[in-house]
Amino acid sequence: MSSRVHLIAAARPNFMKVAPLYHALAADPGFDPAVVHTGQHYDANMSDAILADLRVPPPAHHLGIGSGSHAEQTGGVMIAYEKVAMADRPDWIVVVGDVNSTAACAMVGAKLGIRTVHLEAGLRSRDRTMPEEINRLVTDAISDVLWTPSPDADENLAAEGVPAEKVTRVGNIMLDSFEMVRPQIELERRGFAAGLPERYGVVTLHRPSNVDDPAQLQQLCTALVALQHELPLVFPVHPRTRQRLEAANLWSMLEAAGIRLIEPVPYIRFMSLVIGAAAVVTDSGGVQEETTYLGIPCLTLRPNTERPVTVTEGTNRLTRPEILLADVRAALQPGLNGHRRPEHWDGQTARRCVEDLKRRG
Ligand code: UD1
Repeated sequence: MSSRVHLIAAARPNFMKVAPLYHALAADPGFDPAVVHTGQHYDANMSDAILADLRVPPPAHHLGIGSGSHAEQTGGVMIAYEKVAMADRPDWIVVVGDVNSTAACAMVGAKLGIRTVHLEAGLRSRDRTMPEEINRLVTDAISDVLWTPSPDADENLAAEGVPAEKVTRVGNIMLDSFEMVRPQIELERRGFAAGLPERYGVVTLHRPSNVDDPAQLQQLCTALVALQHELPLVFPVHPRTRQRLEAANLWSMLEAAGIRLIEPVPYIRFMSLVIGAAAVVTDSGGVQEETTYLGIPCLTLRPNTERPVTVTEGTNRLTRPEILLADVRAALQPGLNGHRRPEHWDGQTARRCVEDLKRRG
């Protein structure tokens, strides 16, 4: 009998982590994977279009939770997923990343006594004002197996007293998604990017600490306008950010400066923008990793990162609105971007995950 595995997908950054594992499990007769979509993200380009880009069939279960406060979202996912997990009784539950649904489903699994795996375990920003840091701490504390992307994650777990046998370093699974559809990304670049300037930067912003505080958002927008004069910017705007920009009357300021404000784009289109970019300005976690993999300068508008390997080994640097322009100029200096890819960031992570599940029986 094959082992039934629930793969929990909830929000945009989860889909590129679930897809390669789904394919690797589906190709192995020992496993019967099922994607469970909690519905935390529901806009087509934030959700279904990404799954379609990555050739994942429609989810076996859709919980339809949607937006809400942290407690509403986390509690809603727990109530809905508990019913599915009790009815379906999977052998394994795999939760990914650090969103509210990750912690919610890990709690359900732990309490039902279903073995639970956290993919992307051990990352720590040590900033408990970030909702994701709370989700990471909770999820790692109660999961049975911890799949880590980098040695710093292993060290964080060891320092928290996690037994070594729970931890397997599998690498960065998002890059498996990139390699899986690289030809389509390159094709899309020739089409979609044809209308873009020869040299451009990509911007993404959605962290509450950046977009929910109007003073911080104003400062950020001023910095982006200054940067736009030197490097034309393309900015796919997250729905949360759009609401905040419109409420603060900043949308029109960015538009008047010539910044290309576009809807959020699905995975292949987004990566086609990134591979052609001179630099990326972001507060996303995943984008810090993708740019390190691709050797593209990344300026991260945050005081800390739970992905330090992108700074020590990759192309990432932390920045602030006041110094963004100077930092982008420095990052664009030729020859300054000596970097390497962290170990196991090689498109083979899903295979290592499947091997680890088999080993654990
Ligand atoms: C969530 C994750 C964050 C992740 C991000 C990626 C948590 C705590 N946060 O933040 O870690 O980096 O996803 O995007 O889990 N909205 C839509 N359509 C959608 C989704 C959201 O319009 O498909 C709007 C809603 O108004 C919602 C707001 O965006 O209230 C924020 O969405 P939410 O899922 O609460 O958090 P994110 O900011 O997306």
